[in-house]
Amino acid sequence: MHTTGLTSPQGIWWKPAHKSEKVWFTISFVWCMILFAMMPLWHVVGGQNPSGIRAKVEPRDYIARVQQFVRDYGTGESESGIPVVAPPPGSDVYLLAAQFQWAPVLQLQEGVEYTLHLSSLDVNHGFNLYPFNVNFQVVPGYDYGLRVTPTEAGDYRIVCNEFCGLGHHLMVGKVLVLPAETTATGPGAEPQAPVGGDS
Ligand code: CUA
Repeated sequence: MHTTGLTSPQGIWWKPAHKSEKVWFTISFVWCMILFAMMPLWHVVGGQNPSGIRAKVEPRDYIARVQQFVRDYGTGESESGIPVVAPPPGSDVYLLAAQFQWAPVLQLQEGVEYTLHLSSLDVNHGFNLYPFNVNFQVVPGYDYGLRVTPTEAGDYRIVCNEFCGLGHHLMVGKVLVLPAETTATGPGAEPQAPVGGDS
């Protein structure tokens, strides 16, 4: 029968939702609400929020900071010619993302807090510490500081997880975390000056 929006169709043209459909709808709705509540809740109780240390920075100024960082605590070069830096516990650590590499190579100590600064020379990059679920956007023009404490010794990779150009897949950096009992100075490292006023 022909009907329009002005006249109701005859008879029962709809059927009540089946029980399983109602159950499914209820589960989905409750789950949506849980996820929705998690967003603001996680901001308060989650341990994954950024430290809130951020500042605008010109890329060339950030490069100068990285270079100073390498001069201060550099211990040599990696096989691929990237400077290796072993900063003292509690220090500010500067990592530069650029098409298509992470520099320098970081040599950190387990169980010690650092402030890890991230910035980019050119485009957006993504800091992803493999194999952990640590992700952060690396943005040109901004210096983001993250308070980090390596909890496990090991040899880790920084993978770029933001598409940044043709060499994106080649953009792999390195973080070495030494066990708590060893010193921060690696093989061939120069003796380091004591840091801080309370030593
Ligand atoms: Cu850097 Cu993708």
